[in-house]
Amino acid sequence: MEDLDATFALVRRAAAASPEPPPPRPSRGVRCTLPRAVSRLSLLVDLASLAAREVDLDALLRTACERMAEALHADRATVWLVDAERQDLVTRVALLPEAAELRQPLDRGLAGWVARTGELVRVDDASADPRFDPTADRTTGYRTRSVLVAALREGDSAPVRGVVQLLNRVDGPFDEEDARYVTALARELARVLAFTTLRPAVESEPGLVLRGPFNHVVGRSAGMVRVYERIQLAARTDATVLLTGETGTGKGLLARAVHVNSARQAGPLVTVDCTTLPAQLVESELFGHERGAYTGADRRVRGRVELAHGGTLFIDEIGELPLELQGKLLRFLQERQFERVGGRETLVADARVVAATHRDLGALARAGRFREDLLYRVRVVEIGVPALRDRGAAEILALARHFADAYARRYERPPLVFDEAATARLVAHAWPGNVRELEHWVESAVVLSPRGELSQSLLPPVVAQGEVRAAPGLAAGGGAVALPLGLPLDAALRRYVEATLEAAQGNRTEAARRLGVGRNTLARWLGRRAPG
Ligand SMILES: Nc1ncnc2c1ncn2[C@@H]1O[C@H](COP(=O)(O)OP(=O)(O)OP(=O)(O)O)[C@@H](O)[C@H]1O
Ligand SMILES: [Mg+2]
Repeated sequence: MEDLDATFALVRRAAAASPEPPPPRPSRGVRCTLPRAVSRLSLLVDLASLAAREVDLDALLRTACERMAEALHADRATVWLVDAERQDLVTRVALLPEAAELRQPLDRGLAGWVARTGELVRVDDASADPRFDPTADRTTGYRTRSVLVAALREGDSAPVRGVVQLLNRVDGPFDEEDARYVTALARELARVLAFTTLRPAVESEPGLVLRGPFNHVVGRSAGMVRVYERIQLAARTDATVLLTGETGTGKGLLARAVHVNSARQAGPLVTVDCTTLPAQLVESELFGHERGAYTGADRRVRGRVELAHGGTLFIDEIGELPLELQGKLLRFLQERQFERVGGRETLVADARVVAATHRDLGALARAGRFREDLLYRVRVVEIGVPALRDRGAAEILALARHFADAYARRYERPPLVFDEAATARLVAHAWPGNVRELEHWVESAVVLSPRGELSQSLLPPVVAQGEVRAAPGLAAGGGAVALPLGLPLDAALRRYVEATLEAAQGNRTEAARRLGVGRNTLARWLGRRAPG
């Protein structure tokens, strides 16, 4: 067992160092001729690298089940998770085509017994075991004979997160070695799950909180559930998707979810951010250029559109795309054709397009800054991502907990405790910067709270919700700042300017625009610092 554990540790480290998808696995025929130990080890490589990749949670568990059934020569494999909120066992994926999700009480069946006791179960004839619950067999018509169940937990005394259950070994009953192997596998899978969004409510207690269908995406509010539904529907097609929503609502993350849940998952996901590029460079960035296309173009460069061939092209902040280029993008969306800058050859690329914007494209179109024909082409499937303050208190707290756990792991800090006062503040704050603002706040709170206790001074300021909504033109990161009366005017001005800069995520040009002054004035107000 120690040997296996040491191997897992090595494999995990290697996988974390290179978050590449594993090489395609050999066909069944080849696998069967491999020595048992080798084929079993290869499963560990896959499990460890699954954690490093961004995948749909259900897909992660499904792959793990398939591979475990294969490696242990079992007819079926199921991962049951202990749902900490409902206190029962749930399987979101099983190699059971009859049902998408099954639930069973914790006090029933062999899986329930393992979930409660943490002990391994290996039986050759289930019907002769009094702990076996025949209900599932009766409803599905399946006949369970041999069973092997191991607790899903990171160590022998760690809390149980679920169980791995294997049914009906194909060639004779499960043996001692199978039992040892499945115990080690279950431990590895528990470690993999610790890096997903399936997190326990309380680290030291059994069970997990099921937070949403995508790995790394937290949230179950009605608004987000609608977003997931649309993403799942759109992902199965090649339709162009437009994600809209305020800054920091997770558009980038969700664009990735579209890609990884689509048939193009194995292909590239290539991003073009229209805000970070000077307008003159956007065309060459998107479509590439030929040698000599302009001064300094000393070689042919392929554009993002070409690089995304076979995958997904994510056009971020499409509202900033210069008008001159909108026609070219339209042509690409309609015909998948384009030319490199300075090139005459018409090229074709097979890329699915996902775009995002925090702007109102309809309003831009009415103002003549966005082509109407492009607008219709881009928003075939429009998905509006709700602002954090519209998702409800439970979601703010779930996200805070999620980031607190993630950053506590990263910085090796104890878990952050949100007491009543902190909870109230988190909920009352309007989060104009949405999830990004919350994430940054939690990160700094974790860093500045070495004992896990939040000090008063770290709590986010209370911003009345009305203020944020009422502030015109501040949709993209507005807010409010409380200034004590009696502050010298220059100190007050400076604080106000700093808050505006912060709300503009440090973007000086944007902050100056919001304040209606030039960048030099802004720099002077900030204390004669050099413009950055
Ligand atoms: N539902 C979520 N669950 C977990 N993390 C999230 C969620 N939504 C956003 N995040 C995290 O918040 C941060 C901001 O998200 P993201 O960059 O996707 O927002 P955005 O809408 O693209 O913002 P912008 O418009 O400013 O580009 C990222 O670190 C992202 O991982
Ligand atoms: Mg973004």
